[in-house]
Amino acid sequence: MELPICSICRKREAVTYQLHTHLALCKECFVNDIIKRVENEIKKYRLINQNEKVLLAISGGKDSYTLLDVMSKIHDPSKLVALTLIEGIEGYNRDDVLDSIRIKTRSLGIDHIVLTLKEVVGASVDDFVRGIKYRGINISPCTYCGIARRRAINIKARELGVDKVATAHVLDDEAQTYVMNLLRGDMTRLVQAHPRGPQLSKLFVRKVKPLRKVYERETAIYAYLHGYKFQERECPYIIHRPTLRARIRDFLYRLELERPGSLLKLVEALDETLDNYVLNYHKLPELPRCRICGEPTSYDRDLCKFCELLISAGLI
Ligand code: FES
Ligand code: ZN
Repeated sequence: MELPICSICRKREAVTYQLHTHLALCKECFVNDIIKRVENEIKKYRLINQNEKVLLAISGGKDSYTLLDVMSKIHDPSKLVALTLIEGIEGYNRDDVLDSIRIKTRSLGIDHIVLTLKEVVGASVDDFVRGIKYRGINISPCTYCGIARRRAINIKARELGVDKVATAHVLDDEAQTYVMNLLRGDMTRLVQAHPRGPQLSKLFVRKVKPLRKVYERETAIYAYLHGYKFQERECPYIIHRPTLRARIRDFLYRLELERPGSLLKLVEALDETLDNYVLNYHKLPELPRCRICGEPTSYDRDLCKFCELLISAGLI
């Protein structure tokens, strides 16, 4: 069977079909298109400037592989440092993924730091699960995992003195976050998902999401075309994932399948709608500090969510 010709260069054989544009693309044009979209997003919202030092949060999945590879092409690799956090979940050992990331970062000339959650924030996900089980409390391990990872990344970013933290959140994640916060009526979180969202504490290192206009399925193709073997294993706690986000994810996937490009339009429309509105949130005062750990917490709390979780699990 003859392969179609790339719709962009009209020279090479196409290796993939871009659903949302109906274009058949060769590897080179596909990769160039992803890089261009990331660069446009960075430029449009001034996410990162040339001289800044950036910490890349790399889990080892297809999204973070794409982030690593694309960033190394558009930013000086000596100004990039990769961080991988090991959650501490029995049976969820990612040694093979770590090896692949090590080889990749070395070949790109990017420093790679590997740390356990326990080393940085004092408790692994399994420590937390043991604690709540013992006390008969029902809190999803993912809640702790997400909050502890964010905390650990921010602490490390501060220690390293980087200007920005880049995470591998993709378009699908952004669409879910927007819809979830709309359904909850949580305006503060809604504007925080915007690329110009307010920085509510000096203690937070600014987070950016360079892949926010790239579909998850595109990162799978990107990793595959580069021969990267990404992690297929699932976290054993996946069944405890909070249900609202899981439902929204399923709903949005179905919608995207029926009408390719819907998620991109949704995120673009909300970005634009919120563009001026976010500025009102820049005037908010600095967040208060947690009475136990001293890290920022929400306006109406004196303990942060992280310390509350550790208390629930009997870990402090
Ligand atoms: Fe691993 Fe939630 S803690 S999926
Ligand atoms: Zn605290």
